[in-house]
Amino acid sequence: MLQYQVILPMPHRKQIKFINSRAPRKIIRAGRRAGKTVGMAILAVLAFREGKRVLYGAPTTDQVERFWAEVTRALAEPIAAGLFRKNETRHTIDVDDKHDQRIRAKTCWNADTLRGDYADLLILDEWQLMDENAWELVGAPMLLDNNGDAVFVYTPPSLHSRSVSKARDPQHAAKMFKRAEADESGRWAAFHFTSHENPYISRDALSDLTHDMTSLAYRMEIEAEDIDEAPGALWTREIIDAHRVMKAPDLDWIVVGVDPSATSTGDECGIVTVGRKGKELYVLSDNSLQGSPAVWARAVCDAYHYWEADQVVAESNQGGEMVELTIHTADPSIPVRLVHASRGKQPRAEPVSAHYEHGHVHHIGNFPALENELCLWLPGDASPNRLDALVWAARMLGVGTDSRVSVRSLDDYKKDKEELTEKEAVKRQEEHLVGLLEGDEAWN
Ligand SMILES: Nc1ncnc2c1ncn2[C@@H]1O[C@H](COP(=O)(O)OP(=O)(O)O)[C@@H](O)[C@H]1O
Ligand SMILES: [Mg+2]
Repeated sequence: MLQYQVILPMPHRKQIKFINSRAPRKIIRAGRRAGKTVGMAILAVLAFREGKRVLYGAPTTDQVERFWAEVTRALAEPIAAGLFRKNETRHTIDVDDKHDQRIRAKTCWNADTLRGDYADLLILDEWQLMDENAWELVGAPMLLDNNGDAVFVYTPPSLHSRSVSKARDPQHAAKMFKRAEADESGRWAAFHFTSHENPYISRDALSDLTHDMTSLAYRMEIEAEDIDEAPGALWTREIIDAHRVMKAPDLDWIVVGVDPSATSTGDECGIVTVGRKGKELYVLSDNSLQGSPAVWARAVCDAYHYWEADQVVAESNQGGEMVELTIHTADPSIPVRLVHASRGKQPRAEPVSAHYEHGHVHHIGNFPALENELCLWLPGDASPNRLDALVWAARMLGVGTDSRVSVRSLDDYKKDKEELTEKEAVKRQEEHLVGLLEGDEAWN
């Protein structure tokens, strides 16, 4: 047995708990800067010392570098002595090509980025931001040969955190945590701790981190509480679920709502398509994405054509005419209506949420990311982009305008002129509604 010194940070109380756990599946829910990544580095080095093959994955290079810095520091002495090889570009520490023993750190966020490896210990850090399919499709299979272990680490993602997420369902980690807690087979263990429980982070550093957080974000990201519905939110899971349907009827009018993102690296661009049949609204798709203007404009045009929509309605607060130009660069044939948000988000969103409460809005299938925003957004906080896109589309379809001026039904229009076709009546109604929408926004 080779003798060498490994210098590890002294784990804090909560880190000791999961380090000592022998459960083959662990899930750790902890606040920002609670010591998750350092805890994983300790875990990885201990497993490596037992001869194991460790794969650490995180969705950002930033996280990977932090983990890498910890493990290379811990193993600096044996690496310097030539007992282990270190490859800085591949982020690997191993013995030689013949041994499985290894630590590898890698950016991964979906199944494809995780492929092509096997391990005794797989660690997925910032798991809430990863595409959950990564585990089922690639993660679990790669552990099969050696009956390996897996560790999932996450912080409940509030709307405040603008991290780019590849999660299909923003609540997927929370759901896994609940299943782990309910497990009685001993296979799963669940751990929870807050940012305050890390004795190595100063009060000042913590207050820097939290100074612009809403109380909801604080509960989620610092106290690491899983919350899927905020008290005081305008939408509830129950209402959305109660009126969900699998299929839309033939629709009179379809609108793609767009809330453009200001930058290609920051916010997502909200792209939500909604159709209307009489009083009923049908949410058809959520194609929101994070990308350059050319990328989101393409997605807007795709949604427009896919649904054979009548109109695109886009908020022009950020970028003004650029928004229209961007969409028209992708496809000049698309009718774009620009709307300017002059009044508050809350008065704009409230009639839409009321329309849900009255049972008139139906989601066609599930839109986990959109529904998450609806049920977590508190009026007064910065509003998220999917929600905004939905609200614009719904208002364009007449929601919130009929409270002040009654909207005439299609039949009313048809009665005006006997020979008016269905299509012409829809057109008249549309013109009328657009007038209302614009007037409504202009008054305030
Ligand atoms: N056991 C420990 N010993 C010394 N410092 C630690 C320890 N655990 C965490 N820290 C420090 O606390 C801060 C946050 O740790 P980190 O693991 O990056 O948190 P998280 O991954 O939860 O955001 C870092 O500055 C880190 O160096
Ligand atoms: Mg971390």
